[in-house]
Amino acid sequence: MGTKKIAIVVGSLRKESFSRKIAATMMGMAPGKLDMEIVEIRDLPLYNEDDDTASPPPAFTAFRDRIRAADGILFVTPEYNRSIPGALKNAIDVGSRPYGKAAWTGKPCAIVSQSPGALGGFGANHHLRQTLPFLNMPAMPAPEAYLGGIAAKFDGETMVDESLRGFLQSFVDSFAAWVERHGA
Ligand SMILES: Cc1cc2nc3c(=O)[nH]c(=O)nc-3n(C[C@H](O)[C@H](O)[C@H](O)COP(=O)(O)O)c2cc1C
Repeated sequence: MGTKKIAIVVGSLRKESFSRKIAATMMGMAPGKLDMEIVEIRDLPLYNEDDDTASPPPAFTAFRDRIRAADGILFVTPEYNRSIPGALKNAIDVGSRPYGKAAWTGKPCAIVSQSPGALGGFGANHHLRQTLPFLNMPAMPAPEAYLGGIAAKFDGETMVDESLRGFLQSFVDSFAAWVERHGA
């Protein structure tokens, strides 16, 4: 029951991203159980199978190594056009190859989606869920996290909504148990 290393993949590249602020809020919530760190996706070239030779782009290798080193993955993402942002899909594709050697394989994961709108990124959350069985990633089914009206929950970097903070704490506690149960 040592500390589990969690790679957080944030689906937005925006500097003031709410997804990133949510991730930062969640990072300290399971001291001693989860050591959570954002693995950046902004420098990944668009996936092109032609580049994925014996010496792939260094950014691909670095990203795959960081994902492989993790015991679990936390996705925190906005919704773009009722789906996931292209940058996040690209990162998933990069981590999924070479064929048969996906970095994601077997990693327990959980998803938090958010939106300034009311639906909390439900469409993105479920589009992301669709990819996970193919990557053989056990995805935590509950609690589900569709965080709506997100703009009102922050004052700068600080999450000021205590009820949301409490929900995220219970989400992280469940995720810690999920990783413990389904991890390698
Ligand atoms: C290209 C694009 C498409 C979007 N589509 C949706 C959408 O389908 N549903 C939604 O709730 N919000 C949508 N939004 C608004 C995002 O939810 C909002 O910009 C959010 O704050 C982005 O997350 P971030 O703060 O982590 O960057 C869209 C934004 C962009 C830029």
